[in-house]
Amino acid sequence: MARVALVTGGTRGIGAAISKALKDAGFTVAATYGGNDAAAAAFTAKTGIATYKWSVADYDACVEGIARIEAELGPVDVLVNNAGITRDAPFHKMTRDQWQEVMDTNLSGVFNMTHPLWPGMRERKFGRIINISSINGQKGQFAQVNYSAAKAGEIGFTKALAQEGARYGITVNVIAPGYIATEMVMAVPEKVREQIISTIPVGRLGEPEEIARAVVFLAVDEAGFVTGSTMTVNGAQYIT
Ligand code: CAA
Repeated sequence: MARVALVTGGTRGIGAAISKALKDAGFTVAATYGGNDAAAAAFTAKTGIATYKWSVADYDACVEGIARIEAELGPVDVLVNNAGITRDAPFHKMTRDQWQEVMDTNLSGVFNMTHPLWPGMRERKFGRIINISSINGQKGQFAQVNYSAAKAGEIGFTKALAQEGARYGITVNVIAPGYIATEMVMAVPEKVREQIISTIPVGRLGEPEEIARAVVFLAVDEAGFVTGSTMTVNGAQYIT
C-alpha cells in the first residue's frame, strides 16, 4: 500500500510542487489549504490530488481534518508542515495582530498538525515530519521579526522532536528554502526583490520543484538515518 502524505498549504506555491512531487514518487497525497477555494479546485482538477480546507492555526480543526483524511486515505505516514504566511512590517510599525497571525499559522500550526499525528506514528513505529522553514529563520530579515522568529522556532522544534521520535522510527527534519519564485516572493516590491536576487550567488530565484525534490529525499523509507537536520536550499545566499 502506498504511504499517505499530508501537505499543509499544499495547493499553491512551494506546497503545490511538494504535493505533486510526492504523488509522482508514489505517495497517496492529501493537500490542505486555508482559504483559496478557486486555487484548490484548479489544483485538484489538474493533479487529481484531494484537497481539504481548514486553518492550521486552529488546533481543533486540525484534529477534525486529520481524522477525516485518515478515514478516507488511511494513516498519515508523512507530514509536510508547509503552510505559512507573511505580514511584513518594520518592527516599529508591526502590530500585535501581525505578530500573532504569523506565530499562530507558521509556528503554532506546526504544533497543531504534528501533535495529533504523533501518537499514531509512535504506535506504528514510522513517521516522517518535514517542516518548511526559511532562510529568514536562519539569518533574520528586515521587516520580518514575526516571520523570522516563527521560522527560527520551527528549527528548534525540529531539533527537539527529532530526539523524541528517533527510537520510534520517526524522523523530523527541516528544510530552509531561500527565495523561491512564488506568489509570496513576487509580492515583495520589485526594487527590493531585485536587490535580494543580487545577493544570491546562483544568480536567480529558486524554483518550487527544487524544494519539492528535497522533501521527497527526506520522505522516503530509505531516509531513516537522516533526522534532526536542517537542509538549506538557497543558492548559497546564506551558508550556515
Ligand atoms: N535593510 C535595511 N533597510 C531597509 C531594508 C533592508 N533590507 N529594507 C527596507 N529598508 C529601509 C528602507 O530603505 C526605508 O528607509 P528610509 O525610511 O530611510 O527610506 C525603510 O527601511 C522602509 O521604511 P518604510 O516605512 O518605507 O517601510 P514600509 O512600512 O513601507 O515597509 C517593507 C516596506 C515591508 C519593509 C517592504 O520594503 C518589504 O516588503 N520588504 C521586503 C521584506 C522581505 O524581504 N520579505 C520577505 C518576503 S518573502 C518570504 O518571506 C519567503 C521566504 O521565506 C524567503
